[in-house]
Amino acid sequence: MAQIPEFEVVLYPDPVLRKVSDPIVHFDEDLRSVVAAMFARMRKSKGVGLAAPQVGLRQRILVLNPSEDPNNDLVLVNPTILARTGERVVFDEGCLSFPGIYAEITRPDRCTVRAYDLSGELTEREYDGFRSRIIQHEHDHLEGVLLVDRMTPAEKLKHKPALEELVARYKRARPPEAAEREAVRRE
Ligand code: CO
Repeated sequence: MAQIPEFEVVLYPDPVLRKVSDPIVHFDEDLRSVVAAMFARMRKSKGVGLAAPQVGLRQRILVLNPSEDPNNDLVLVNPTILARTGERVVFDEGCLSFPGIYAEITRPDRCTVRAYDLSGELTEREYDGFRSRIIQHEHDHLEGVLLVDRMTPAEKLKHKPALEELVARYKRARPPEAAEREAVRRE
């Protein structure tokens, strides 16, 4: 069995969070290891969903589970949101890449999703409520779209100090030369 990696959560404003992720081609043991490690990270961080870019991988993988029960684990590989329908709902949304920030975000209640499961089977299903909310949030990550982009100007203003603190923390953690090398490596 492939070695299960241990992931850390990538925090805003790390540029990897801004990249558009690539589709998964091989539904193999490596993919299963990555998914298992993503679930482990999600649970450790007490999250309800996680997208691969949040652990530094530019891959179109989402994992989620809004409950405590592992039987409700949901994996969506190469997901496409075919339709967003229903009432527009406001919800206090958080993100593991924005620790401590919860912002009122408006999204449609329902979404229809086509995605592959772990075995490479194509599935199509409609979701509503919290699951639909999580899927729409996590799907944004695959396109490099973040919580901060979904905030109204008022919400952005409200969270400005916390956002600036995250930027300052990111800059403190990496001296400019290291950041430059990193940028080259990621091209
Ligand atoms: Co997020």
